[in-house]
Order: sequence, then structure tokens, then C-alpha cells
Amino acid sequence: MSENFEVKLDGKTYLPDPSVKENSWIGDYEQTYEKFLKYPSAYWEMIADELEWFQRWDTVLQWEHPYAKWFTNAKLNITHNCLDRHVFDGRRNKVAMIWLGDNGEEMIFTYRQLYREVMRFANGLKSLGVEKGDTVCIYMPLVPEQIIAMLACARIGAVHTVVFGGFGSNALRSRIRDAQAKIVITADAGMRRGKRVELKAIVDEAVVNSSSVEKIVVLRRMSPPMELYSEIEVDFHEIMESAESECEAEVMDSEDPLFILYTSGTTGPAKGIVHTCGGYMVGTYYTTKCMFDLKDNDVMWCTADPGWITGHSYIVYGPLSMGGTILISESTPDYPDPGAWWRIIEEFDVTIFYTAPTAIRMFMKFGEEWPNRYNLSSLRILGSVGEPLNPEAFEWYYSVIGKEKCPIVDTWWQTETGMHMLTTAVGEPMKPGFAGRPVPGVVADVVDEDGEPVPPGTGGFLVIKEPWPSMMRTVHQNDERYRQYWNTIGNYYTAGDLAVKDEDGYIMILGRSDDVLIVAGHNIGSAEVESALVSHESVAEAAVIGKPDPLKGDSIKAFIILRVGFKASDKLKLDLVYHVRMNLGPIAIPSEIEFVDSLPKTRSGKIMRRVIKARELGLDLGDVSTLEE
Ligand code: WT7
Repeated sequence: MSENFEVKLDGKTYLPDPSVKENSWIGDYEQTYEKFLKYPSAYWEMIADELEWFQRWDTVLQWEHPYAKWFTNAKLNITHNCLDRHVFDGRRNKVAMIWLGDNGEEMIFTYRQLYREVMRFANGLKSLGVEKGDTVCIYMPLVPEQIIAMLACARIGAVHTVVFGGFGSNALRSRIRDAQAKIVITADAGMRRGKRVELKAIVDEAVVNSSSVEKIVVLRRMSPPMELYSEIEVDFHEIMESAESECEAEVMDSEDPLFILYTSGTTGPAKGIVHTCGGYMVGTYYTTKCMFDLKDNDVMWCTADPGWITGHSYIVYGPLSMGGTILISESTPDYPDPGAWWRIIEEFDVTIFYTAPTAIRMFMKFGEEWPNRYNLSSLRILGSVGEPLNPEAFEWYYSVIGKEKCPIVDTWWQTETGMHMLTTAVGEPMKPGFAGRPVPGVVADVVDEDGEPVPPGTGGFLVIKEPWPSMMRTVHQNDERYRQYWNTIGNYYTAGDLAVKDEDGYIMILGRSDDVLIVAGHNIGSAEVESALVSHESVAEAAVIGKPDPLKGDSIKAFIILRVGFKASDKLKLDLVYHVRMNLGPIAIPSEIEFVDSLPKTRSGKIMRRVIKARELGLDLGDVSTLEE
């Protein structure tokens, strides 16, 4: 960053009822953080000791920058902790998973049932020749079998690489090839808004000339069942039914790979982020317990797809390692109507709800009459992830959904970090617009390009200064790219986000550093301008890009989706400019505003400014197969 910039930080603070903190797993945030800082290894060791290991570790951490080994020489299997532990420890008949289909179908699995399904499918995979260390690609809709497949891989030590079922064949092919997948597990089709989404057809295209692929496992959920033609295609349930029912968990080393997950592609080509067994298990278990405050009678609904890191960590491995009850739903938020999700919360007494700001803003657009039709009083904790939760969306989430009684955990983290890194611990004062402070166990800071901390109120780069258990270990086939994360700013892990800290150490995420605009020598986070625009009553969503300007470096162009009931006009443009000026100051004023009906987004809902910019400037878009308007 050429120059630091000042950010106005004053705003409201919300304090949860004292009982929240009293009854929470985390207890007093500051005391807990102090405890960690004093004895970091002992802190992580205490958490790891809550889980079951086949053999204990020699050392908690072996760190040779930028390479970390956590819980060295320890032996474990994550599925032992997600399944066996509960089946033999009093949760045998507890509901592990509730699944809701797009068409209103319902399936419920107890821990015992899930355990049996996973063991059978694990044996099915073995019968196809899958061995420890092999890579298996999972390309499925949001069905229970998707999670069963993930756990079955982990059971036998196969490395899963889940590709979100919304990706196209190019994206799938490049991932299958990069990961050298031996098996692809898919389904005939997914369901979205009452319509079939053909998945098998996409796999057929993707595996042409993918020499690593030996078998394709197909879940046939539609009737009449789709025909399987070639001998490399096998039926999901058939390989289960012919398999033995018992499958002992493979003994894995703490540092053996657990999965590869490709990042969504907001920047350049997809990177295969590699996570390992021991550290990832400890990190996701810990944050599910202490950041979501998961208790035995909770029902946790994370609206992400298991194909994203959010789903890996907070649908599958975190909650199940805690013995929690998860709810998953194939449904779209506004199908058949914008009350769909609120109806689910009422029906199943969901207590922990985790979603993305983009969804919250969409619901704001539909109006509060939708959530107000349902009884949402079961809700206890609300979570947000994926992009900054702007103060207006926070307020709406807090009052309309949480009825001013649920703490909001705005969790900042990444595919690479595996677990939450920043948030406001439940029970602590909440500041709209701020993700919060580092999770105890994480050392985070906002620094300049030399790695020096910047004063409160000054923007800088968000870095993580010390290793943590669930950090990625490498980028598959590209260790050089891995090292860059730890060698760009001092010796710190650079997240690629811009942030600002306040006097209390709360961190506000301003946006990606690669989306920073430099206007007349000032750095402006596009997310900042977007947040300002979205705070105007007429704006549902906003995307801001920098356009090269001979005088100012960048000039700001904003693309706006209006809320229902507002009409595009020149008068409204002037109002918005004035609004941004009042919020952020004259340097942040958009020189151009365009009203649009949709914005290009990644499947995870992040606005692709790179694509908007390329379109605007008439540049080649490259591969945009992973986009959704
Ligand atoms: C990037 C990581 C981690 C799960 C979902 C996305 C942005 C994530 C927040 C948040 C502001 C956030 C960051 C980060 N991000 N959470 N709470 N506030 N920004 O995972 O695709 O790996 O993206 O998402 O820019 O670097 P991902």
C-alpha cells in the first residue's frame, strides 16, 4: 500500500445479555486470550486432549517457517471423532443430520445410522480399489450421500476433493486433473427451484481424457433411474449394499492430508488448498465449540454447501466432531417463496444459523414481513461469513431475525485458514461492521507493507503472525504459491485482505487488497464504498470497481441493484453520490453510477469485481465458468 488511509470508526455497540457469557463455552474472552498468549502450546494441547487419538503426539507444534507440523507423530482418524466416539458415548440415537430436499422431502440420520452408512460406503470405495492416499473427487448435489462420501473417504484415508455441484465442466475437469482423482462420485442430478440440474452429464464431459479416473460412482436419485453405460460406471447404493458393514477407521498420521479444496477463483487460477488430519480436526472442533458455542441440544444450520470450506468445517467436521445435530437443506432461500428458510427454522427449532451477508441483504430486499410470519424464537446464535457484514445488514439480522437477543458472530476466515480466525466471541460487545477480535489461539494484526503495526483507525494489511493448527500445509502441486502466503509481508501469513483496527482491538475487514482502488493517491477499499452505498435506503446490492483515470489513477464506478419500490433516476444518482460523500468523504465519491438488475458472482456469492471490470473495460474475461449471475 503506497499510503495509509484513515477510517472513521465510531458507531454503535451492542451488549448481549450477561447470561450468554456465563453459559458459554468460551467464558471471558480476554481472560481466555491471555491464557492462550501465556502458554500457546498448552492451550492447543488442552483442546486436542478433548478428542480421541489412537496415539498421542510428541510435540504440539514443530515450526520451521513457513512449514508447520501440528501434533507430531500423533495418530487419529477424524471420523472416529465424528462418529464412533458418539456412537459409543451416549449419542448413539441422537440425530446427527436432518436433510431437507428441494421438493420438501426429508431424511433424518441418527449417529448410529450415519456411522453405518459411512462404514458401508467406505467398504464400497475399497472394493473399487481406493486406498489410503488416493484422491477421490466428490461432485454432488446437497444430499446426505455427499457428506457420507466425504466421511467415507476420511474413514479409509483417501483424500477427498469436493467440487461444488454448481461448477461447470471446465472447472470440474481442471480440478480432477490437478488433484489426479482416481474416482469421481456424482449423482444423476441435483434439484434447484423444482428443476433438475444435470450433474452426470457434466461429469461425462469433464472426464474425457482425464486419465487418472478409474471409476465413476453415480447416485441415482431420480426416477426412472438413469442407465449406467460403461463398465467404469457403478451405482452408489449398489456398491454399499454388497459391502461389509464394519469398516475400521484407518490409522492416520496427524500430518497426513485429509482433503484438497480448490478456492473459488476470485483471483486467478484455482489453488488446491491442502488440509491435514490432526490440526484441522482440532481447529474445527474448537471453533465450533467455542465460537458457535454449540451445545448438545442445539440444531445447527449452516446454509453453505458442503462443497465449500464453510461446509467442510461447519457442516461436517466441526459440528459432527462435537456430536452436534446438523440441518442441511437443498432449498434456495426464495423458493417457493421468500419465507422458505424462516419456515425451516420454525419447523425444526434451529438454534444456530450461519449464512452469508449476500443472503441477508437479499432478505432485506424482500422485506421483514416474510420472517415476521414465522416463529424464530428457537434461534440462539446468528453467524455470518464470506464478506463484510455491513452495519445495515447487521442491524437487520440482529433485530428482525435475532429479535435483539442473539449474538451475531461475524466470522472472518478463509479456505486457507480452515477455521474461524476473527470474530466477536459470544457474550462480548458487538460492533456492527467489525468482524471482531482474533479467536483465542490466533495472533492477528493489521500492518503496513513492512509488517509494522499501523495505529488504530489506519487501514493496513491483515496478517496472521503465528501458525495455527488448521492452517493449510501447501498448495497442491504448487508449493511456491504456498510460500508466498508467508513471505509477502515480513514473515507473516498474508491473507490478502485490507483491514482496520479500533482502539479496542476490533478488526473491520475493508475488502481484498487486490480490489483496492487508488484514487488521487488515496487507497480506498471497494468494499468500503459498497458498504456506504448499501447503507442508503434504496440500495440492495452494490459493486464498485476502479476505472483507470489519467488524472486520478482510478476513478470509481458503482453498479447498483435497487431495492423493490425504488426507481432509477438521475436524482437518485445524485442522492447516492451525496450519501457516499457524507459517509466516506469526497475522495470516495463514484464518478459513475449504473443501475443494473444483476451482478456476476462466484457460486459462494462474492461479487466478481474482476469480471465487472473486464466487461466495463472491454477486456478478455478468461474462464468465467464458475460464475453465477
Ligand atoms: C475471503 C475468503 C471462509 C469461508 C467463506 C469464504 C472474505 C470471509 C469474511 C468476513 C469480511 C470475509 C475475505 C477472505 N471473507 N469472511 N466475515 N468479513 N470478509 O472463503 O472463498 O476462501 O474467501 O472471504 O476477503 O479473504 P474463501
